[in-house]
Amino acid sequence: MARQHRLTVLGIETSCDETAAAVVRGDGEGAVQVLSSVVASQIEAHRPYGGVVPEIAARAHVELIDGVIARALAEAALSLREIDGVAATAGPGLIGGVMVGLSAAKAIALARGVPLVAVNHLEGHAVSARLGEPLPYPFLLLLVSGGHCQLLAVRGVGACERLGSTIDDAAGEAFDKIAAALGLPYPGGPALEALAQGGDPSRFALPRALLGREGCDFSFSGLKTAAARLAAGLASEAERRDLAAAVQAAIARQLAAQTAKAMRLYAQAQGGSGLRLVVAGGVAANGAVRAALRAEAEAQGFSFHAPPLRYCTDNAAMIALAGLERLALGLASGLDAPARPRWPLDEAAARRDPIHVPGRKGAKA
Ligand code: KG4
Ligand code: ZN
Repeated sequence: MARQHRLTVLGIETSCDETAAAVVRGDGEGAVQVLSSVVASQIEAHRPYGGVVPEIAARAHVELIDGVIARALAEAALSLREIDGVAATAGPGLIGGVMVGLSAAKAIALARGVPLVAVNHLEGHAVSARLGEPLPYPFLLLLVSGGHCQLLAVRGVGACERLGSTIDDAAGEAFDKIAAALGLPYPGGPALEALAQGGDPSRFALPRALLGREGCDFSFSGLKTAAARLAAGLASEAERRDLAAAVQAAIARQLAAQTAKAMRLYAQAQGGSGLRLVVAGGVAANGAVRAALRAEAEAQGFSFHAPPLRYCTDNAAMIALAGLERLALGLASGLDAPARPRWPLDEAAARRDPIHVPGRKGAKA
């Protein structure tokens, strides 16, 4: 971060099914303090449908947003007069929800005369590990959540190069769909991790996608189909546990294998400096995934970093921090900043290589 005066930023996140607001303060030297981080989850509203319903999400954001912002300010013991800027997720995500949070941020910016920062949600995940510890640029990032699965060389604020991404489903989506096939509640990732405890991952053989192939891309659709088929024929609780353990191990193995390849490419490009691996996004909360990545990082001489658990899944503290870093560099947005359902971090790569954006969710990445 640029050495600037102290900044206090209000962040707003509404791109999926969490309505979130947070206040983050930077000391101008790279240290950050989360003064508050409020997340109102809509999980219960979506649970009957087994996934996020965009229309329900947008309406819930409208109802919750004012109260969530008020709570974030109250917990930080600050008024809007003491905020230096307001940052909101402007995409990618469900457009109805994004518009609610971005409009709220614009209203505050206009009313208080403070700068607005329209933040890319993925940039928020990219900086999220910096909420827990000072972490300099550059670093290699595995961003792995319900809608995204990609490897990025992050060289600075807004400077990302994509090294690989999923060619079909995101890893979190695979966790969620397979968990549903196992009869677990939405969101499936944490439930599947709990079921996998004590299971035998070797009882079921699952497909190994893309292993041995060149490149750092991911694929989870074959695993998803195979596991869902196996789940339908299970007789005992022990079998369910073993299948959950096998699925978790297969996802962790693929994430670690492709990240290991990306580490080699990244280390070459870096000439051996800046060897830091960061994992972020909801799936970064998974213990088996973290352990597999940590082992690969250590084997290649990388330091390993992951956000505190509460900042792995969607939150507004990461959006406030991304906004703060941009503000410190003078990168505020206009009040006409659009809400963007799709917004790749590495726009050049997305244009050059559109085969990486197939599918319902992959397109967001
Ligand atoms: O980052 P996030 O909150 O939302 C997106 O931007 O997508 O990630 C949510 C995803 C869901 O797919 C959820 O099942 C997964 O992260 N997830 C987990 C765990 N906690 C959340 N997956 C595996 N193990 C977990 N412990
Ligand atoms: Zn997210």
